[in-house]
Amino acid sequence: MQIIRTRKELQQFALAEKRSGKVIGFVPTMGFLHDGHLSLIDIAREKADTVIVSIFVNPTQFAPTEDLDQYPRDFDRDAALCAEHKVDVIFAPEPEEMYREDASTWVTECELSKPLCGASRPTFFRGVTTVVAKLFLLAQPDFAVFGLKDAQQLFVIKRMVRDMDFPIEIIPGALVRDSDGLALSSRNRYLSADERTRALSIHKSLVEARKIIENKGLDAVSEAISGAKEVMTAAGGRVDYVSALDIDTMKEPTAETRQLLLAAACFFGTTRLIDNELIDL
Ligand code: PAF
Repeated sequence: MQIIRTRKELQQFALAEKRSGKVIGFVPTMGFLHDGHLSLIDIAREKADTVIVSIFVNPTQFAPTEDLDQYPRDFDRDAALCAEHKVDVIFAPEPEEMYREDASTWVTECELSKPLCGASRPTFFRGVTTVVAKLFLLAQPDFAVFGLKDAQQLFVIKRMVRDMDFPIEIIPGALVRDSDGLALSSRNRYLSADERTRALSIHKSLVEARKIIENKGLDAVSEAISGAKEVMTAAGGRVDYVSALDIDTMKEPTAETRQLLLAAACFFGTTRLIDNELIDL
């Protein structure tokens, strides 16, 4: 396994792999890998000749008030896990390598990125789409794997790829949960034992809300959302949002909606957690 630290070296490597006919699979991450990330890497390993994983805590997707400095990092552990999962290349640049000091270009998706996490974190998706576009140009993947834990992110990236004609297939990977139902996230490590127990209310309340919508249909969406908010609040959570949107438009569902994203963001202590359910209509 190679560890590459510079943009130039990664792009040269990737272009040479392409010229020799290799299929490149790419998994972008911010490191502190857990089983959710490893399941995405395994999908890439199955389909690609060459698997590239990026480990980069991307400063442009954090607001000044957010947890950039505290974001958990453990490169040696991540590298060992990547080697175990037969990754060919880790790309781990420093922020100064990734972004020139006077960089002035952003890639912005202007529709699907507006609600949910985009409403609470107004500069988040601009940072994500910009870094992912750069990573795509450096790693030259044939396909990239993104987890459904960050479902809105996945839909935004798919839209960016479609609109900008990136010749890259975006493959979704299933949301992975702990045995008690908590969605895996690098941020779970911020939770105290008590907060972690109370945070289980996110998944439980979304599952209940899902049942209500499945049984009663779209007319019951607001009842389902209010119920979920009550359960999280009763568990001591501070709800950021609970919302059910059409996955194609990220707007309120209509008679044409084929799938709903029922998504929640909720703080336990100072930790903001997200989770979701996808509901076929
Ligand atoms: O999902 C993440 O970990 C990040 O948003 C990503 C896609 C690696 C971009 O920094």
